[in-house]
Amino acid sequence: MSRTLFVTTALPYANGSFHIGHIMEYIQADIWVRAMRMAGHTVHFVCADDTHGAPVMLRAESEGITPQALVARYAQERPAYLNGFHIEFDHWHSTDSPENVELSQDIYRQLRAAGLIDTRTIEQFYDPVKQMFLPDRYIKGECPHCHAKEQYGDACEVCSTVYSPTELIEPYSTLSGVRPELRSSEHFFFRLSDPRCVEFLRQWTSAKTTQGMPRLQSEVLGKAREWLGDDDNETSLNDWDISRDAPYFGIEIPDAPGKYFYVWLDAPVGYLASLKAYCKLKNLDFEALIDPASDTEQIHFIGKDIVYFHTLFWPATLHFSGRKVPDQINVHGFITVSGQKMSKSRGTGISPLRYLDIGMDAEWLRYYLAAKLNSHVEDIDFNPEDFLLRVNSDLVGKYINIASRAATFISRHFDGQLAYTGDTQILQKHWDDVANHVRDLFEKREYGRAIRDIMAQADIINQDFDAAKPWLLAKGFQQASAQDKAKLQDICSVAIAGFKALSVMLAPVLPTLATRIAQELFNQSRDFVWDDVRELPTQIAPFKHLLQRVTPDMMEALFEPEPEEPAAVPGGEEIAPTIKIDDFMKIDLRIARIVQCEAVEGSTKLLRLTLDVGEGQTREVLSGIKDAYKPEDLVDRLTVVVANLSPRKMKFGTSQGMVLAAGHADEAVDAGIYLLDPDSGAQPGMRVR
Ligand code: MSP
Ligand code: ZN
Repeated sequence: MSRTLFVTTALPYANGSFHIGHIMEYIQADIWVRAMRMAGHTVHFVCADDTHGAPVMLRAESEGITPQALVARYAQERPAYLNGFHIEFDHWHSTDSPENVELSQDIYRQLRAAGLIDTRTIEQFYDPVKQMFLPDRYIKGECPHCHAKEQYGDACEVCSTVYSPTELIEPYSTLSGVRPELRSSEHFFFRLSDPRCVEFLRQWTSAKTTQGMPRLQSEVLGKAREWLGDDDNETSLNDWDISRDAPYFGIEIPDAPGKYFYVWLDAPVGYLASLKAYCKLKNLDFEALIDPASDTEQIHFIGKDIVYFHTLFWPATLHFSGRKVPDQINVHGFITVSGQKMSKSRGTGISPLRYLDIGMDAEWLRYYLAAKLNSHVEDIDFNPEDFLLRVNSDLVGKYINIASRAATFISRHFDGQLAYTGDTQILQKHWDDVANHVRDLFEKREYGRAIRDIMAQADIINQDFDAAKPWLLAKGFQQASAQDKAKLQDICSVAIAGFKALSVMLAPVLPTLATRIAQELFNQSRDFVWDDVRELPTQIAPFKHLLQRVTPDMMEALFEPEPEEPAAVPGGEEIAPTIKIDDFMKIDLRIARIVQCEAVEGSTKLLRLTLDVGEGQTREVLSGIKDAYKPEDLVDRLTVVVANLSPRKMKFGTSQGMVLAAGHADEAVDAGIYLLDPDSGAQPGMRVR
C-alpha cells in the first residue's frame, strides 16, 4: 500500500553556517526518505531556516544589517552544502515568510479560543543601555550557590545549579556590561499544565504510529513520562512563556501591540509553512495533507537537545488548535569528531565545505554515517582511521570490487551477455529476501545493521567468486570446453547479479553512485527501486571506474589546523611577502569593546580581556600588554580583534582571538606597546577592512 509521508528535519538557526551535525541530521533523514521513495511511497521532504529570535537580531545589528539580510546571507550558502552531500529536500523555506506569519497567528488564535492562553505580569531583567529585556543567556554574574564568577543567567556551569537570573550576585548584561534593572511586563503563556494538555500528551506520547510502530523511541518516551508524570506521579509541566517584548525579530502576536511570539512558538510552525509553500508550487492540496483525518504520516527528524519542544509543546499546540498531530518523532544523538564535542558557536570539528573542497566524495561520508547510525539516541563519533578503513576496505574493497572483477570477464569473453546455469529462481528469492530485510532495517532507521548485512552479503559473493577461481577458466578461454565457458559466464553473472542487488540496497545511502551504476553498467534509464532486486540482469556495459579510495593525504587536509599565529621576525622588521586581497579577507578583524579587564594571576605579561564583539556573548582574550596598560584603564575602550583566529590554549586559559597592538619586533627594544583604537562611533562587531 502506498503511503503519503510528510518528513522534516529540524529547522536550523539562520545565524550560522551548517556544521557537520546539521549535515549528519540531513543525511540520516535523506537516506530514510530515499528508502521510502524506492518503495513507491509519496514523500514530501521539507525544511526551512529558523530565522527569528534575539541572537539573529543582535547579530544583524552588530553587523549593521537587517535581520533579513543576515538570514539571506546564510540562505545563499545553503545549496552548496545540500547539493554537495546529495541531500534532496523538496523544498526549503523560511520562518520569516507570509505562510508562517499566517499559520502561527491562526494557531495562536485557536489556542486562545480553546482557553489555553493566559497573560501574567512578570519581572525580568532589562538592559537600560540596550533598551531591551535580556534573555537569560545575555546575563552573567556570580553563582548564588558556589560563587563561581561569570555564570549565565539560567544555570551554573560549575555546580550545575539551576536558578533564575535575578538570583545572580552582581549580574551584568553581556551586551552592554551594565547592571540590568528589574522591570515588569505582561507575558502570554500557553497553559501546558492544563489537565487537558497533560491528558492529551500522556495519550499521544504512548500511542502507536499509523504503521503500528512506537511513536517515540523508548529512551525518549522515558523522558516524556518523567515530564508528564502518571497517575502516581505528579506532572512537572510548567506553563510556557510564548511572548517576548519589542525589540524582537519575530512574528507579532495578534491584538497585542509590541508583543512577539517567542521564536520556539513559530519555529515548528515553519514545518507547516514550508509544506504549504511547497504545495502551492506543486499544485498540491495542503489542507488535505494536514487534515486531522488524513492518513498523511507526519514525521520529524531532530537531535536530542530539542526533544522537549517536539514531544510536548509542538503536539499540544497542533492538537489544541484543531490540527493533525505528528506521527513520529525520530531523535538522533550528537556527532563528535575524534571523541571531541564540538562547540555550537565556534563549530570546530570537520568543516563540511572543506571536506568537499579537497575533493572528498560526499558518498563516503554518507556511507560512513549510515554504518554508524541506529534507531537509538546515541552519539556517534567521526574517527579518521575508522573512516578510511570502512570506506577503503568495505565500500571499495568489498562492494565495488565485485563489479570490477566480474565485469571484466563478461565484457572480454561474452560481449556483455550474462547467463546463469543454476536455478535463477533460487537466486531471485535470495536477493528478494535479503532486500526485504534490509528495507525493513532502513525503515526502522537501523542503518548500521542494514550496512552490516549488506557487507556480509558482499563477503559471501567475493568468497564464492574466489572459490570458483574464474581466472583459471578464463586463462585458456579460446581452447576451453563449452561447459567451462558456460561455467565462467555463470560465476561472473551470479556475482554481477549480486552486485546489482547490493547497489539497489545501497541506493538510499549512495544515490549518485547507484544512478551511475543503473545507467552505465545496467543500461537502465531510471533510478533503482526495491523491486529491481528481483530482476536478474541479462546484460552489462563495459565496466567503468566507479569509486575512488580515500587517501591519507585527504584525511590530513581535512584535519589540517588553521594556520597558527605567525612567528615574530627576529631582528628588524621587514615587510612581509605580498598577499592577495583574498588572503587579507581571510582575517576577520572586528571592533571589540573591552567589557572587563584584569591581570592574569601568576603571569607577568598577560591581561585577561573580556570582549564584546557583537556576538551576543562575550569572549575572553589573553593579551601580553600588561606592561603597557593598567587593567582598569582599558575597561570600556574599543579596540580591534582578530575574530576568527582558532582558539589558543595557553597556560592560563584559552584565548579566543587576539587584540591588535603595535610594537617593536624585538621585545628587548623597549619601544612600548600600543593598542589599536578605532575612531569614535565604531560599534562592537563592525568589520575592519
Ligand atoms: N532552530 C532550532 C530547531 C527548530 S526546529 C522547529 C535548532 N537549530 S540548530 O541549528 O541549533 O540545530 C538544528 C539541528 O541540528 C537540531 O536537530 C540539532 O539537534 C542538530 N544538531 C546540532 N548539533 C549537532 C551535533 N553535534 N550532532 C548532530 N546533530 C546536531 O535547534
Ligand atoms: Zn555554582
